[in-house]
Amino acid sequence: MQQVRREAYGEDIGQHSWVTAEELREDVSRLGLSPASRLLDLGCGPAGPLTFVVGLAGCRGTGLDLSASAIAAGRARAASLRLDRLVSLRRADLNEPLPFAVGAFDAVMSLDVILHLRDPAAIIREVARVLTGGGRFLLTDAGVITGPISDEEVRLRSIHGYTRFVPPGFNERALEVAGLRLIDGEDRTASALKIAGGRLAARLAHRAQLEPLEGSARFERQRQYLETVIDLSRRGTLSRRMYLAEPYPPR
Ligand SMILES: C[S@@+](CC[C@H](N)C(=O)[O-])C[C@H]1O[C@@H](n2cnc3c(N)ncnc32)[C@H](O)[C@@H]1O
Repeated sequence: MQQVRREAYGEDIGQHSWVTAEELREDVSRLGLSPASRLLDLGCGPAGPLTFVVGLAGCRGTGLDLSASAIAAGRARAASLRLDRLVSLRRADLNEPLPFAVGAFDAVMSLDVILHLRDPAAIIREVARVLTGGGRFLLTDAGVITGPISDEEVRLRSIHGYTRFVPPGFNERALEVAGLRLIDGEDRTASALKIAGGRLAARLAHRAQLEPLEGSARFERQRQYLETVIDLSRRGTLSRRMYLAEPYPPR
């Protein structure tokens, strides 16, 4: 599996999303993190990107995820990187209010998670609440519909549970309504295309080892999923967008 990941991601930072190490390094430089900063990662998964950022900035990091196994894997990862003193992970459902006080964090990130949440505007409001005045929010959404999509493509793209797609401008408006000013926004579909292509090629190259491990049905489902992501990305039908925002100064 490590070999498949290396071949798929190039620089493997333990991500379970479409974020590349290159992209994250650049975005993080704009979060203004210092060793005194408190960073929150919403939907951290097994904490690959979170430990990467904490390792770069030396800040403290808190991660939330619904999956107990992802949290356990994330704790093991933080310990193996000797970052367990700085990283704290807990299980939480992001469809509920965040278990933190007003202004508890200097920066918040959420990478390719919002498309799995039932009320994207509600989580953005929660981010605005827990962020300090001068804080920053880095969000990526791989579910922005920018072209015609069929019901079959929606089904194949939604194998990881509840998935919700939004029109262009939806997240920008939700940020604005929550009191967060958009500083930057960029199309990051190329990263999804690169990673999905890498994952598909690596999985097909190691099919003989993977299929007995995971079963033919799961192998096939993953193949169709990755092919769908590649096709939708190439056609410009489903886009992945990055948003960098900060609270408006108080009036
Ligand atoms: C595509 S993965 C991204 C993980 C991580 N951000 C990364 O970049 O590696 C999406 C994550 O969202 C989490 N997730 C989905 N629904 C959630 C919910 N309602 N509450 C908390 N986490 C959720 C999943 O468990 C999964 O770890």
